[in-house]
Amino acid sequence: MKFFLDTADIEEIRQASAWGILDGVTTNPTLVAQTGRRFDDVKAEILAMVKGPVSLEVTATDYEGMMTQARALAAEGEQVVVKIPLTQAGIQATATCSQEGIKTNVTLCFSANQALVAAKAGATYISPFVGRLDDIGNPGMDVVSDILEIYRNYGFETQVLAASLRHPTHVLEAARLGAHVATMPIKVIQQLFKHPMTDLGLARFMADWQKVPE
Ligand code: E4P
Repeated sequence: MKFFLDTADIEEIRQASAWGILDGVTTNPTLVAQTGRRFDDVKAEILAMVKGPVSLEVTATDYEGMMTQARALAAEGEQVVVKIPLTQAGIQATATCSQEGIKTNVTLCFSANQALVAAKAGATYISPFVGRLDDIGNPGMDVVSDILEIYRNYGFETQVLAASLRHPTHVLEAARLGAHVATMPIKVIQQLFKHPMTDLGLARFMADWQKVPE
């Protein structure tokens, strides 16, 4: 399973990169807005720092506008993955990107049928939003499971990127299902390391080590 960090915060990317387990980064307009910085500045710094896939989202909502932005973003670096919302215009843009060799991450996916459409358009990644589905009382992980089953049935190469993950159990469930990628906030990655028994065990080892004669 690949781990992507869901952020536009440079310091968070620097911190998580140092751990040696980060495969890429996903951003969205909300995450960029939270930095309080210009998109061009944030984008340039992320691309200089991350060699793995970096999802950068289009903000146009019409096909022509999406394609203009997608081509410009893709020209910024080999690692750029153009994030496109799952609308009719977005699917049309995804299909064109696929024909032009531009990598895509189809975002705001909330159903397996939407994911089927994205795969048919040749999306590189599909991003089902697990947490936001849970928020409205629909088990988000069921959608991930359905998508994986459907993609396996037909041999689609689109990778399932479990998104909107809010806690370690989401990551565990996505991994058990075989999602190709999990994107998560830094807090969730940090939680994956943690276990109170590890802390307790280490404290005891360190205390006992003091008793070993020199
Ligand atoms: C990732 O690509 C999505 O933008 C992100 O996971 C959304 O997460 P949220 O629902 O916590 O905002």
